[in-house]
Amino acid sequence: MGEPRVPEYGAGTIPFDHALHGDSIGLDCAACHTGSRASANAFMPSKADCMDCHRLPLTEKPGIETLDSLLAKADERPWSHGRHLPEHVVFHHGVHASAGVACADCHGTGYMQNRYGGEKFDMQTCLKCHRGETFREKGFKPAASYCAACHR
Ligand code: HEC
Ligand code: HEC
Ligand code: HEC
Ligand code: HEC
Ligand code: HEC
Repeated sequence: MGEPRVPEYGAGTIPFDHALHGDSIGLDCAACHTGSRASANAFMPSKADCMDCHRLPLTEKPGIETLDSLLAKADERPWSHGRHLPEHVVFHHGVHASAGVACADCHGTGYMQNRYGGEKFDMQTCLKCHRGETFREKGFKPAASYCAACHR
């Protein structure tokens, strides 16, 4: 009532293509997902992370103009975070990073990384790697398979 409502623009309205950023310009995943090496959570970027590079127009492509105006309107809220595993499952990114497990081992490569690649995060996928039945060639240390390691 009274004042007209100001429309809100979350960063989530900005288009983002992993293939364009990771594969072609070699940007490290952790530059945007800052928790993925040490924390439980991978964390999502916010507009400021894009502005590091997109402060100036980078290409002549028409898409850049749209991006600039979207970035100018967007607020500082990060991209939305969603829990993908059920509440009763414990998962920690940092534990895996220190054991040498690569992002792509779980998330796949290329554009698919945006949607967890071909891997489904079901219990068997976790357990098979923990028991050394998959990824043998990588020589990971065997990891826990007792129930309470992953279930609280
Ligand atoms: C320049 C910043 C940037 C880089 C670098 C980046 N990402 Fe992302 N990532 C994003 C953004 C933005 C989203 C949200 C996209 C959306 O919702 O449309 C996202 C989403 C994701 C998601 C999906 C989360 C969900 O809830 O669906 C995964 C998984 C992911 N990224 C993994 C990776 C991996 C693995 C790499 C490295 C190969 C990587 N990202 C590199 C910015 C980045
Ligand atoms: C390390 C620098 C860097 C960062 C950080 C970065 N970008 Fe980019 N981005 C680029 C470059 C370089 C291109 C052009 C790639 C090409 O044309 O091959 C690009 C292209 C794009 C395009 C395509 C525009 C077109 O030409 O059609 C979009 C959309 C985009 N970025 C969004 C984002 C978003 C959203 C973020 C933050 C989550 C982000 N970028 C972070 C470097 C970056
Ligand atoms: C051992 C498998 C595994 C590895 C390795 C892994 N992830 Fe994840 N990742 C997951 C699982 C499982 C989830 C869902 C977690 C949840 O629901 O809480 C997830 C979630 C994410 C999300 C979504 C976070 C959100 O807030 O929505 C991003 C982004 C992500 N991972 C990026 C990365 C990056 C970057 C790396 C490498 C540095 C990486 N992951 C390594 C399994 C993995
Ligand atoms: C590609 C292999 C791989 C996959 C897939 C994987 N893990 Fe792991 N996980 C590991 C390794 C390696 C360790 C570290 C073992 C160590 O350092 O002793 C580990 C450690 C853990 C730990 C700490 C307990 C321990 O043994 O140190 C938990 C909890 C865990 N993982 C949960 C999960 C869950 C939940 C999933 C599935 C969503 C998953 N992991 C998928 C390889 C994997
Ligand atoms: C390495 C991690 C890990 C270990 C160890 C583990 N689980 Fe799970 N469990 C998961 C994940 C991830 C899910 C959620 C995805 C799914 O439902 O497959 C899950 C789901 C479940 C579910 C729910 C299935 C459903 O349909 O809702 C049950 C029940 C369960 N686990 C029992 C167990 C029991 C019993 C043990 C010990 C013998 C065990 N888990 C050991 C990772 C693990």
